This record gives sequence, C-alpha cells and structure tokens, in this order.
Amino acid sequence: MSAAITSFAPELLAWFRQHGRHDLPWQHPRSAYRVWVAEVMLQQTQVVTVIPYFERFVTRFPDLASLAAAELDEVLALWSGLGYYSRARNLHRCAVMCVAAHSGQLPDTFEALSALPGIGRSTAGAMLAQAHGQAHPILDGNVRRVLARYHAIDQWPGAPAVQSRLWALATAHTPERQVCDYTQAIMDLGATVCTRSRPACGQCPLAGGCAARAQGLAGALPIARPRRVIPDRHRYWLLINDEAGRILLERRPPRGIWGGLWSFPEQDAAPVHMPGPPLAEVQHSFTHFRLHARVVCATLDCSATQDRDTAWFGPAELHALALPAPVRRLLLDQLPGITT
Ligand code: ADE
Repeated sequence: MSAAITSFAPELLAWFRQHGRHDLPWQHPRSAYRVWVAEVMLQQTQVVTVIPYFERFVTRFPDLASLAAAELDEVLALWSGLGYYSRARNLHRCAVMCVAAHSGQLPDTFEALSALPGIGRSTAGAMLAQAHGQAHPILDGNVRRVLARYHAIDQWPGAPAVQSRLWALATAHTPERQVCDYTQAIMDLGATVCTRSRPACGQCPLAGGCAARAQGLAGALPIARPRRVIPDRHRYWLLINDEAGRILLERRPPRGIWGGLWSFPEQDAAPVHMPGPPLAEVQHSFTHFRLHARVVCATLDCSATQDRDTAWFGPAELHALALPAPVRRLLLDQLPGITT
C-alpha cells in the first residue's frame, strides 16, 4: 500500500486525540439508539444546530420502545425546525419496524441496518463504527471533501463513477481498529479544518500527503455540482381566523414537502375576495424549487379549505404543533396578534 494510504489513519487518529470532538452528547453515553438518532439528524444538519434537538428528542424518547409507541405528530413536533421531515417519519417507521421484526433492537449488521428506511450506506457505516466498533467506511459531505482534496479528484464527487472511486478510497483508509474514533475524526477534520471555504491547511495533520495541497488546489476542490436552475413556485397561504381568535391550519399530505406538518391552507391562485395586500411574503428554497408564498387574509368559504385535513388552533396550542420553520416564524414571531 502506498504511503498516502498507510499514513492517513494514524495521522488522523493522533490529531483526533488532541483536537477532535469528544464531548458530543451522543458520545455520552454512546448507545446504538443515540448514535442512530444523532446520525439521522446530522444527515443534513450541522452539529451546533443538532445538539439541542438531540437533547430534547432523547429526553422525550430515551429508547426505541418509547419512540415506537409515540404518535408521529409528536415526533414531527420535536423535529419542527430541523427540516427534511422524511427523516423524522423514517425514524419513527424504523422504530416501529425494529419493535415488530428485530425484537426491539436496532440490528447490528450492515445488511439489516441499511435495509431500514432512511439508513443509507454512510449512515449504516457511521452507526456500526460508532456503536459497535465495526470497520465500515463512511462517505458523508465532510468525508467526500477530505478525500477529494487528499487525492486531488478534479471531478464532481456526485457523479456515479467518482462516487465509486471515493467509496473505494474511503474503504482503503478505514482502519480495522479504533474505527469509532477514526469515523469521528474524519468528520471532525472535515468540519473544523478541511472546511469548504478557506481550509486551514496549516493545521491539517494530513497536509504532508495531500495531493490538492501539493498542486495548490485545496481551495478549488471539490468541484461544485454543475449549476442547475431551480424553478420558482408561487403560492398563496390563507390566513383564516374564527371569532374565538383561533386560526385554521391544514395538515399537509403525508408524502412530499413538509409531509404531515401543519401549515396554512395553500392554493396556487390569489383568493377571489382578498381584503387587502399580502400580510407577509415568505421565500424558502427546497432542493428542486424555490417557494414564494404570500400570506393573505381569507374567509372559511374559500375553496382551498374544502375536503382538506384542517383544524382550528388557539394561540396557546401553536407552540407544540409540528410546523415547518417558516410557518413557525410567521405564526409565533412575525405576525404577533394575528391569531387573536
Ligand atoms: N456528521 C455526521 N455524523 C457526525 C458526527 N458523528 N459528528 C459530527 N458530524 C457528523
């Protein structure tokens, strides 16, 4: 094996002892359940954001059984603000499946774990490495960046052929021993030293073997995804009150954007009788489109509320609801008094 491969893990592990993160809440205690919850939260969200959500989640649901027994609504409410809600729905489904088919435990083999919803190859690897010390590679965004630089891979890492090459490299670097620390170490290096912009190569334990650094390419790699123009989607959000000061919300269909969360009744066109200009405008970017929502006053007889899963909520009830982050901001911060 080349020096670029053999020295990688030992150098990274030596760095980790001094500079890695050793006080993350899912490390103390480190159980399969807690590692799983953390890894799913961390799939699209940074550590600083995840920590308070993680603490609240495991306080309310300390184990698989309590999560499996919960109503999905409560799980979504605890997830409210983290985004990518299919993660929460899959977490709940997984818990139910493990109680039904795995005697109440998360499986500890790669095949069984990666067959569960929401657990891809990298998450399964991260869980097995951290919870059970099994040597499996991981390849999340941080690791992809570290490897693309270390090996000076000058193609977009999302392309399937490049992805295979990165997995092969990730596998070659993963040590048989100390894999729990190694897994945390490579993620920590990506998050704190080998950062997306202005990497701190002067502090990097791998700088000596880094091909991108040798070629002056560290700042230029990895190659960004080819630019895609995402379409705009314009919608109207209807603000409907009753005499008691409650607000009408709609539970969104289980599949799709914000599935299962409570939001304003929504329609494509402006309501026929719009008493005034929009009260607020919201923009929110999703992977495939950018949403532009206008919040407008409306009345109950408008068509958007027919045959929908709607309910009235008083101001005191809004806090505990599973609301998408922009809806939460509107209802609780930006439009004070609208529900009274
Ligand atoms: N991203 C995904 N898993 C992580 C972890 N265990 N620590 C830090 N960042 C992560």
